[in-house]
Amino acid sequence: MAKRAVLAYSGGLDTSVAVAWLKEELGVEVVAVAVDVGQGGDLEAIKARAIEAGAMDAVVIEGKERYANEILLPALYANALYEGRYPLVSSLSRPLIVDLLVKEARKYGADSLAHGCTGKGNDQVRFEVATRALAPDLEILAPVRSWGMTREESIEYAIKHGVKVPVTKDRLYSIDENIWGRAIECGILEDPWNSPPEDVWEMTSVKETSPTSLTIGFEKGVPVSLDGKAMDFLTLLGHINEKVGSFGFGRVDMVENRRVGIKSRETYEAPGALALIRAHSDLEGLTLERDLSHEKARLEPKWAELAYDGLWFSPLMDSLRAFMESSQKFVTGDVRLDLSPGTCTVSGRRSPVSLYDYGLATYDAQDSFRHQDAEGFVRIWGLGVETWSRKQVGNQ
Ligand code: ARG
Repeated sequence: MAKRAVLAYSGGLDTSVAVAWLKEELGVEVVAVAVDVGQGGDLEAIKARAIEAGAMDAVVIEGKERYANEILLPALYANALYEGRYPLVSSLSRPLIVDLLVKEARKYGADSLAHGCTGKGNDQVRFEVATRALAPDLEILAPVRSWGMTREESIEYAIKHGVKVPVTKDRLYSIDENIWGRAIECGILEDPWNSPPEDVWEMTSVKETSPTSLTIGFEKGVPVSLDGKAMDFLTLLGHINEKVGSFGFGRVDMVENRRVGIKSRETYEAPGALALIRAHSDLEGLTLERDLSHEKARLEPKWAELAYDGLWFSPLMDSLRAFMESSQKFVTGDVRLDLSPGTCTVSGRRSPVSLYDYGLATYDAQDSFRHQDAEGFVRIWGLGVETWSRKQVGNQ
């Protein structure tokens, strides 16, 4: 039986009620831990709310830098998009949160880890599988999944136990946000036919209308400069979110397949992530040798699926991350993105280690391709098909 739990705390209704509920109903002491992955909000106020709700202690941990460098960069190397569209906004923050929670659990001598996920989503899978990978000895508590209260009942529970009910927009939607983007679900969005109301968008409203362009510089797959100005990845991501978002680019509206067998309608906005993936994969077009490029493209969806399915800490994911990283050795150069309302398009790329050879590609006078080699190559390439045609199809 758990005695002391470290709780992944967001400051929202569910995790606040969870603090009180774990204490009152299970007799578990709670250390509330909020990890700052760029979700916004006043984290000091959140800390105070956890204490008010009955936590024995509350901690806020700065996680943005580690998140950017240890998780988002590998995701960019892999051009990671689940089902070809979703840049894994929520999926990617969970492994870092769990890693930090486990460290706090050790510090506080906790015997369990608690989260506020419901039983219908993917986040429970990510929290729990990651915990079992990193600290199989810790018990897992999922109060929201086990208490069986409706939203109204948990509000009542909160009021009865002196837990402040936060008044935020997530009373209309379920929102999860970090520096890689925002995920907005529930409410009116649950009917896949309903257009997303304008108020779901925060990062992607058109504020700029005159077309402009941005040049992103990459070094070994890492974005290192913006319009010629060197900056670290986290700073660059902030700028790019802002700039690309102000052109209204970066929205995704899709029905996706959850790990737990449910189809769900999701809306996302991830201006920086989607622009960077676009630019990065374009530069790979210029710098990756053909076989590597094709094999990488075949493995990218698998990388995204493992991240989505909560298998960040797993042997296959370890190996895929190593593959993706080693593929980045020559992904160095610049990509120009043209921005206009609602669009973000690559309009140019260059690299000091480009595999694009003008002499080979051109049809003008500088042509250096050995045309005479083509004839024999093509004949042998087609030999098997020709033999099949003559012998089996009957063409002579
Ligand atoms: N469907 C997305 C995922 O599984 C987003 C989940 C968002 N979570 C939330 N609590 N709103 O990664």
